[in-house]
Order: sequence, then structure tokens, then C-alpha cells
Amino acid sequence: MAELIWRGKTSLPRNSTPSAGQVSFQQQIANEKYYNLETQIAIQPAADTWYNRLIQGDKSLVLPGLLNEFQARIKLIYIDPPFMTGRTFNNNSRISSRLAYHDTWNNDLDLYLQWLYETLINLHQLLAMDGCLYVHLDWRVAHYAKIILDEIFEAPESGAGFKNEIIWHYQSGGRAQKYFARKHDTILLYTKSRQYSFHGDRVGQQRGTQKRNHMRKETDANGQVVWTIQSAGRTYTYSQDTPMSPPDVWSDISHLHQRDPERTGYATQKPIALLERILLASSEENDLVLDCFCGSGVTPIVAERLGRRWIASDRSDVAISLTRERLLAYERRLPFALQYVKDVE
Ligand SMILES: C[S@@+](CC[C@H](N)C(=O)[O-])C[C@H]1O[C@@H](n2cnc3c(N)ncnc32)[C@H](O)[C@@H]1O
Repeated sequence: MAELIWRGKTSLPRNSTPSAGQVSFQQQIANEKYYNLETQIAIQPAADTWYNRLIQGDKSLVLPGLLNEFQARIKLIYIDPPFMTGRTFNNNSRISSRLAYHDTWNNDLDLYLQWLYETLINLHQLLAMDGCLYVHLDWRVAHYAKIILDEIFEAPESGAGFKNEIIWHYQSGGRAQKYFARKHDTILLYTKSRQYSFHGDRVGQQRGTQKRNHMRKETDANGQVVWTIQSAGRTYTYSQDTPMSPPDVWSDISHLHQRDPERTGYATQKPIALLERILLASSEENDLVLDCFCGSGVTPIVAERLGRRWIASDRSDVAISLTRERLLAYERRLPFALQYVKDVE
């Protein structure tokens, strides 16, 4: 098997179980509040009730901390980590602009790759055997991430590993003069076994009445439009009402424009429609969803909306307060825990 090596690569056992010496998340909670939906007032948590969790903390503390409780129990993980852009990002509101996070890495790719590798090892440990991991990146590091993920997820006999390289194609951004304009992000989908949720029917477009490829339009005995195609001596027939199998190029979800009502001001905010597609395709109601780089909170908002349980974290206080506000403003919100991880420094 091919393996990506960088200067200073420290290999980690991918199936290690957390030992007593590792970070204990519970002990590091500095403050904890549960919000009541109606009153938005902190309430006492009931011991045997599940609460969704919004955690402020660096992933290097949060993920090992979650392992004690959630090892191999998370059904869907979506991450949209820093892309190694070399930039600093703000949260802009009408009245102020606040620093949200740095994505600079001292221009050191080795440093970034070790960081990403450690993150993905932890996520592999948290992912359920029938779970799905979506990793959202772009041209800068998606190719490195794919090789690292192959190394971590490889177990061909179990059907684990690579499933998709999704291209999210959008129109926003500038036009390059010396190369083709870069107009897509890459979302890698990996699974830990061959058993996992995938519901293309929930997110595929209706076949409809418009001609798309080499299919023939016919009318069946009930007067319904059907599409037929011959392949290897067989005729396949599809009703116009059935959803088509969704492709891995997504051009129908727009980037959030400056004036989009969904926009919060968080510079790298992703659209609700994107997360809706991912959660609908790869999770069921009540499944547990994790995003450890939640930024403006799009993953917990969509999880809440679709009736999934969630854990969302981010190290930026700007991201956490924005996510908290968005969740509190949302009409169907259940109480959630707001937790902080103490920084070791
Ligand atoms: C690309 S943004 C995520 C945007 C988010 N998906 C959204 O739609 O708003 C990356 C996020 O990773 C967070 N982050 C960066 N380094 C981190 C770390 N070491 N631990 C936890 N969060 C981190 C940043 O604060 C930022 O919010």
C-alpha cells in the first residue's frame, strides 16, 4: 500500500483504545449549561437524558476526551477543517469584525499534515463501524488527505475505505488569468465497513420529463411517462417520478452570496443545503452526528432540523457564540449542553 510521508511524521496506531493517561474530557469541563427551549435560561441537567453538546475547545483535547464515551459510536462525521489557505478569517457583522481563526501554519505543510493525520486517526476511532466520514477540503490539500485517509481506513476485506470524491462546484470567487478558475471544493467520503447508511433516493433529483442522456421516452399502459434504456441485452425502465441516483458532482448548491439571508458573517460558512444533502444521505433520525470544526454552526443546525443528535465543537470563541445564538434562535431547538475544555497551556 502507498503511504504518504512528511518530515516529522509520527505514526499512530489507528485502533488504539484510550488509556487512562489520555485526556479525560469530563475532568476538563470548566463550565456546563443546559438551555431551556422556551425560556433560554440555564436549567439543571437530568442525569439520564441525552443532551446535544456544543463544546468550545481545540480538537486535540475534545476528540480524545470524547473517545472515552463515544468510541465507535458516531454515525456521521462531517469536517470542514482549515484548508491551509495561509489566511486569517473573520466573523463580520454590521457593526464589527472579529478574528475567527488563523489558517496560516507558518507556511509549514509538514506541520499541517501531522495535524490533519492526528485528527483523522481520532475521527476513525470515534466513527461507528457502520458510520460515514465526510472530509471537506479543496485543491490545496485534498490530494494529501485522500492518501492519509486510505492509510487510516484501509481494510479491503471489510469493504472499508474510500467511497466518493464529491466535487462541490460553485460559481463564486475570482477568475484566474493564468490557469483555469478554481471553482470547486472536494468532499471525501470514507466508511469503516461495507455496512453504512446511504440513501441516494432521499437526495436524488426526480427523473422528470426532460430528456437527459440516451434514454427513450415512452408512455406505459397507465399513460405514465417512463424512460427506457438498453444495456447488455436488457431493457431498463424508470418512471418519471423516481429519483435518479445522485452523482458525485454537485453543481446545484450555490455558495452563500454576500447578501444571502442565510449568511451569518462567518467567512467560511457553508450552506445549509450542502449539509442537508450529507445528513439525509448518510444518517437516520436520532443518529449521532459530529462536527469538530463547526464554525458558524451549520452542522448542528441541520442536525437539529432533521432530528439527528449532535456533538459540535470548535476552538474559536467567536464560532461557539455564533453557533449558540443560531441554535437559540431556532424554533425547534431542544436543550443542549454548552461545554468548555480547559486549555492545557
Ligand atoms: C472552514 S471553518 C468551518 C466552517 C463551518 N463548516 C461553517 O459552515 O461555518 C474551520 C473551523 O475550524 C476551526 N478550527 C481551526 N483549528 C481548530 C482546532 N485545532 N480545533 C478546533 N477547531 C479548530 C476554526 O475556528 C473554524 O471555525
